[in-house]
Amino acid sequence: MPIHKAVITAAGLGTRVLPATKAVPKEMLPVADTPTIQYIAEEAAASGVTSITFITSRTKRAVEDHFDDQPELREVLERKGDVEKLAKINEPTELAHFSFVRQPTPLGLGHAVLMARPVIGEEPFGVLLGDDLIVHRPRPCLRQLIDVHERTGASVIAVMRVPREVISRYGVVTVDPAGQLDARTFRVLDTVEKPRAEDAPSDLAVIGRYVFTPRIFDLLETTAPGAGGEIQLTDAIRALSEREPVYAYEFEGTRYDIGDPVGLLTTSLAFALMREDMAPGVKAYLRALKLD
Ligand code: G1P
Repeated sequence: MPIHKAVITAAGLGTRVLPATKAVPKEMLPVADTPTIQYIAEEAAASGVTSITFITSRTKRAVEDHFDDQPELREVLERKGDVEKLAKINEPTELAHFSFVRQPTPLGLGHAVLMARPVIGEEPFGVLLGDDLIVHRPRPCLRQLIDVHERTGASVIAVMRVPREVISRYGVVTVDPAGQLDARTFRVLDTVEKPRAEDAPSDLAVIGRYVFTPRIFDLLETTAPGAGGEIQLTDAIRALSEREPVYAYEFEGTRYDIGDPVGLLTTSLAFALMREDMAPGVKAYLRALKLD
């Protein structure tokens, strides 16, 4: 079944980037000149998604405003005839049809995804986490997962090999060597959220892109709090993999972790260096630093 709908989670508190996130949602922090969540909505749209549901929380009103019209600004720019800036403010509003669901209490990622159930209904859908940026042109990461879903009809989760020292930051999958579809696509046998390095079953970490069959919602309804006392999406994925095939897909592309200050800064630098209008200035600055 084709995927038209996606959920973007943006309800987390962002405590790793304080004080920036005291009053500004972490998803609105810019990478180069664009809020991170816009890149993620662009990835969904470029993957064929036409309806995006954001899971937000009390302090995230700026996310809603960013994807809405801004008449005062628009009218000023229209009067000036500033076509370039008009395009910049209109672009995010035209990406898809948007809806917003508030998560009243931060009960965990699994609970955040479950909040989208009334909007998604009984169809397969994508999930993108608001603090994982993944770049791959021309085939975005979510599109790669959708392609596997279209081949198999199954749920698909994005995975990446990470060094053992950092594996405890992630959900980790155990895959079935006999159930491998191709070089990048593995049948999931088990998943565990943030295991200690010595307990990690593999080096395949779950990265924030998923395609789910609607059955995930039934399993989320009955998932008890797990790691960190939160209702974990990873636990519901384990239950799903016991009932129907779930595939782990080693995606093509570069993943940028923007969840901490160094990650945010280096991602900004990387994105600016990919931009024709920004690269010369940034390169000149870096050259002048004469770092050893
Ligand atoms: C979440 C998921 C985890 C996944 C990670 C990827 O964790 O729970 O399974 O590996 O995103 O970024 P978080 O980073 O929100 O703690």
